[in-house]
Amino acid sequence: MTLAAPILWKIPQTHVSLERLEALKNQLDQRLTEIVSRFKDVRFATSLAAEDMAVTDGIARVATSIQLFTLDTGRLHAETLAMADRVQSHYQLKIKHVSPSAETVTQLVNDYGLNGFYDGEEQKKACCNIRKVQPLALALSGAQAWLTGQRRSQAVTRQELHFEEWDDARAIAKFNPIFDWSDEDLWAYTQWQAIPIHSLHHQGYPSIGCEPCTRAVKEGEDIRAGRWWWLLQNSKECGLHIK
Ligand code: ADX
Ligand code: SF4
Repeated sequence: MTLAAPILWKIPQTHVSLERLEALKNQLDQRLTEIVSRFKDVRFATSLAAEDMAVTDGIARVATSIQLFTLDTGRLHAETLAMADRVQSHYQLKIKHVSPSAETVTQLVNDYGLNGFYDGEEQKKACCNIRKVQPLALALSGAQAWLTGQRRSQAVTRQELHFEEWDDARAIAKFNPIFDWSDEDLWAYTQWQAIPIHSLHHQGYPSIGCEPCTRAVKEGEDIRAGRWWWLLQNSKECGLHIK
C-alpha cells in the first residue's frame, strides 16, 4: 500500500480590497521615504522570501539609496542564490552577498560537525551566530539604520514588533516597514504588484531560511513550522533580531 503524499501549504489566494491594497502601498512608500529622509546610510537585509520582496519592491519604487544585502551563510538553497540574481536584474538593484569568515566556519565544523545544529539548541545557536549574526554585524558596519521584512503575525516571538525600533546590539535604528501586514495582505499585495516570488514558495515553503534548517509544511500547519522543526516554537529565532 502506498501512502498518499501530504497536502502542502500553498500560496494563499486572498481577497483583499483594492482600496486596502492601495493604502498598503501608499503607507509602505511613506514609511520608506521617511526612513531615507532621516538617515543617510540605510541598509536592507533580504532573505529573498516574500516579505523581503514586498519591501524590495517599495525600495525600487521610492528609496533606491537603501543598500540591499543578503547573508550568504554557505548553507542557502540554490534557489535562493538564483532568486538573488533574478531580483537584481528585475529591479536593476545590487544585492551585496555577505559571507561568514572561512576561519570561523572551519572552527564551527571542527567543534560541532557540518550539521551539528540538529544536535540541539546550543549547536544551532553557534551555527547561526557564525553564519548569520557575525556577518550581520559586518554588513551593518557604518550604517545608520537597517530594515527587515519581519511581520508581527509571523510568529509568537514577533508580536511586539514596531515600525521603528532601536537595535541595541548594533546601536543603530531598525525598521520593520511591513510589521503590521497580515498573511493575507502580503500575498494579495505580491500578486497585485506582480512581484517576483522565490520558487520554494511554490513548493510548500511559507518561510525560507538555510537549506538544512527549512522544510515544506503541510496545509494548516504554522507558517514557521518548517523552520528548525526539531526545536521548540519559542526558540525559532536565529539571533538576528534579538533585542
Ligand atoms: S529568521 O530569524 O527566522 O532567520 P526570517 O527568515 O523570518 O528570520 O527573516 C526575518 C528577517 O530577517 C527578514 O525579513 C530579513 O530582513 C532578515 N533575514 C533573514 N535571513 C536573512 C538572510 N539570509 N540574509 C539577509 N537577511 C535575512
Ligand atoms: Fe546554521 Fe541552520 Fe542557522 Fe543556517 S539556519 S546558520 S544552517 S543553524
